[in-house]
Order: sequence, then structure tokens, then C-alpha cells
Amino acid sequence: RRTAILISGRGSNMAALLAAAADPAYPAEIALVLANKPAAGGLARAAEAGIPTAVVESRAFGRDRAGFEMAMEAELAKHGVELIALAGFMRVLTEGFVGRWAGRMINIHPSLLPAFPGVDTHARALAAGVRFHGCTVHLVTPGVDEGPIIAQAAIPVLADDTEDSLGARVLEQEHALYPAALALVAGGRVRVEGDRAVIERPAP
Ligand code: GRF
Repeated sequence: RRTAILISGRGSNMAALLAAAADPAYPAEIALVLANKPAAGGLARAAEAGIPTAVVESRAFGRDRAGFEMAMEAELAKHGVELIALAGFMRVLTEGFVGRWAGRMINIHPSLLPAFPGVDTHARALAAGVRFHGCTVHLVTPGVDEGPIIAQAAIPVLADDTEDSLGARVLEQEHALYPAALALVAGGRVRVEGDRAVIERPAP
């Protein structure tokens, strides 16, 4: 399936998805990397890998979120995009956009949802004294970081962890989890039942 990766920054998860999709047997083809900021570091990495890139600058639209999203839709349509993977995309999307992409848009979040939605997840995990932390890939629904969970990876929190050391170990997990989760979605193996995602086994 033709997939767009939406980024706002360095794009290390994007790079992990590009690496996985370089395998012709991988079920998702990365058709576009789209950033809402021209300075997003991931754009250069995508271009180096020969992937089409586009910038739709959210700042140029001010508070006109629908206008920003219409400009994004035009780019997505131009590249025949069927699936969206948000990878460090720091804009909240409207209900209209999310509804149009329901079941076809996923996000990676650096915590074990439903714990710690939002920002500063590693600092908040340390402050809460949780013994396990990790990352989640979920389908995107209008509530931020709330959609049906597709996959998670957990790691122990170490006694001497700092926000940076913990975040670095979670990020490593993200880079393995996101390609695996996108493969499930692109391979048609994720079905939604009520508020939950169910993973179908591949046919034997
Ligand atoms: C990752 O921690 C991701 O979970 C979060 O934003 C960060 C993006 O990092 N949503 P990168 O741009 O993929 O390196």
C-alpha cells in the first residue's frame, strides 16, 4: 500500500520505516514524506533515499487548520497515498481529517498508552516511578494519543535512568516497533472491533 510518512523533525522513525520498506517484500511502499516545517531534518534524509518529499508549512496557515489540511490532502492525492504514518508529526489534526483517514492512519507515541499521552513522556514516567515504560503504535482517532492500540514494546526503567537515557532506549524500541506495526496495517491484518484493534493471523 502506498504510504505517506508525516514528520515535523529529525525523522529517526521515518528512517526506520524507509529502511524496512526498502525490502521489496515489505507490504508498504513509502510514496511520500511530508513535513509541516521546511527545517525538518528528516526531509534531507528522505530525499537522499530517493523518496518524494513535500512541505506544507503549517505556520503559513495560521489558525486555519482546515486550510492546512486541504493543502496536505492535495499532496497526498497527488502521490496516490492510501495510508498515513505519523512519525513525530507535531500538529493536532481536525476531526474531519482524522475521519477521512479512519483506519488508515497510524501514530507512534513514546509511552505505554494509555499512560502518559501528550508530551514529556519520559520525564513523566520517571516522576511517576513506573517500573516499565515503552512505546505504542495506534490508529489515529480524534482524541490525541487515544486510538486503538496495534502494538507496544516495553522496557524496564533502571534505577539510574535519566530522561535522556530512558528516552534513548525507548527510541531504539520505536525503530523496531514502527516498521512491524506498519507492516501489519499495510498487510491488511488489523481489524477494528469497537475501541480495540484486533490483529488477524496470516493465512497458513
Ligand atoms: C518519537 O519519540 C515519537 O515517538 C514521537 O516523536 C518522536 C519523533 O522522533 N511521536 P523522530 O523524529 O522519529 O526521530
